Amino acid sequence: MVKNIYEDQNYPEAVLPSCPIDKKLKGQTAIVTGASSGIGQSIALAMGRAGANVIINYISGDEALKEMVPEIERCGGKAIGFQADVSKEDQVQAIFAKACEEFGTVDILVNNAGLQQDAAFDEMTLAQWQKVIDVNLTGQFLCAREAVREFKKSGVKKEVSCAAGKIICVSSVHEVIPWAGHVNYAASKGGVMLMMKSIAQECAPFRIRINSICPGAIKTPINTEAWSTPEAQKELLKLIPYQRVGETADIARVAVWLASDDSDYINGTSIFVDGGMCLYPGFATGG
Ligand code: BGC
Repeated sequence: MVKNIYEDQNYPEAVLPSCPIDKKLKGQTAIVTGASSGIGQSIALAMGRAGANVIINYISGDEALKEMVPEIERCGGKAIGFQADVSKEDQVQAIFAKACEEFGTVDILVNNAGLQQDAAFDEMTLAQWQKVIDVNLTGQFLCAREAVREFKKSGVKKEVSCAAGKIICVSSVHEVIPWAGHVNYAASKGGVMLMMKSIAQECAPFRIRINSICPGAIKTPINTEAWSTPEAQKELLKLIPYQRVGETADIARVAVWLASDDSDYINGTSIFVDGGMCLYPGFATGG
């Protein structure tokens, strides 16, 4: 069963209905990469619930699409699954070609696909380094470049948005927090930060907005061992002043807002959604 993202924390239906009445993204098309599980899946569903057509990009796990597609279509958008490796130029171009063929253009890109290949620094292989950089950084570059090409071509379509297009990079708290044992991952996310800001500076005059969301510890398959046992969770909460592990819905809500005109004056910014993980919690009692 695909979970209603708003049910995770028992928000009253009247406040955050599963199909928001105000479909802020109606008539827009969103590509969400790495969307068959975790944060990407939640964002794809939330975009659909806000009225967008969604291209659900995935590399594996296509069984999730059987429930995601009807759920998005129940809310008025259309949804299509598309298998592609974001680190391959021709496959990225194929995602955008499919979106334009089906829906005419693309309005929103969510650069979400990412992975970890952890190792002690002196044991990290070149293959582990390269894989993480290829998917997490080069993948975001390839998708963003294709999106900007399309946004420049289509320009502003006033009936759907006051921007020509919006890009949301799913980064991490580790774009600023160094991470021992995960040097490749932290380097990729640090790269995403300055890539995003440099694209923002260059493309803002074309009414293109690009921002990052920096999740902290969110319950997803990427970090199951950090939260799935009571002992692990106790350790993890030492790093989170707000004292709860994040839900994918926490990220999805921010993604919809960043894709909507409600955030129209926000460009080139990293938004940390981390329960305060970046606040140096170790200093709460020390220093
Ligand atoms: C990582 C998770 C980790 C979190 C906080 C994320 O970017 O993918 O594995 O739990 O950062 O450290």
